[in-house]
Amino acid sequence: MKSFILVEERKVISKMDTPEAAQAVLVDNMTEDVKQEMVRRFNEYGFVIFENKQERSPDELILEVAEELNLGGTYVTGYNRKKFGDMFRGNSLNTITNAKKSNHVVFDNSNAQGLHSDATFEPIGAVPATILYCVQEAKEDGDTILFDSVKAFQLLQDFNPLWAEALLHPESLRRRSILGDDVEVVEPAFKILENGDIISRFTVDTSADWEYGFERVPYLREAFGFMCGLIPRGNGFSTILKLKSNQGILFANDKIAHGRTAFTDDEAKPRKMVRGLYNDRPMVNEKRA
Ligand SMILES: [Fe+2]
Repeated sequence: MKSFILVEERKVISKMDTPEAAQAVLVDNMTEDVKQEMVRRFNEYGFVIFENKQERSPDELILEVAEELNLGGTYVTGYNRKKFGDMFRGNSLNTITNAKKSNHVVFDNSNAQGLHSDATFEPIGAVPATILYCVQEAKEDGDTILFDSVKAFQLLQDFNPLWAEALLHPESLRRRSILGDDVEVVEPAFKILENGDIISRFTVDTSADWEYGFERVPYLREAFGFMCGLIPRGNGFSTILKLKSNQGILFANDKIAHGRTAFTDDEAKPRKMVRGLYNDRPMVNEKRA
């Protein structure tokens, strides 16, 4: 059996790294057309970039986008509520900076973040949507990296169904806390829902312990290797972009993985992002009825 797949033989492609995917939708006025366009892009690319040109509070804007797209209330995971509750505002949004005021590995420093699915210790699929809004971009870097996990998985299904099966195994991906508090969750890396929809919690950051699965699940090592081979940009399944100040991203947290590059701040204007997690996918009103 071949251990690779030629690009021209691929039956699955990702549109994530196309120029249109990186264009921002203006959300100053959330008309039906704007909302429909956001939902279309979310479904087609796994994410939508949006932009605000008005003077307004970032929290207000995020909450409006979430409400207009029917994402449900902003959600705080049980782990974050318990361990980092004071980092969340009453509206459940939190700010991500380089303030180093806590030991949270993502919210509070400038290091690179490996590809991951948000809501580390929640069951697969619990958080289908994340909004990240850039209030102030970094002086240098701090780019957003995206990987089309589900499309990559579908390519693997076509290439080697046995390997793909390994990623569906209930013990395929252990994620654990690196703060020494013994918190972990073991769940499948991918899941096929009853309606045939595929969801993901594919993660390669410091929380991911793939060795755990390699010891228990046949062909998981091979499957993981195949997936990792598709991560570098240029292989068609990932992209990298920099959110500018006043731009946000709404992404399918259970379809794509995200990470960031390390960044350097302008001390007078440090990087500042606001994040919200959501339990529902974006949808326009008439479709929900
Ligand atoms: Fe994240």
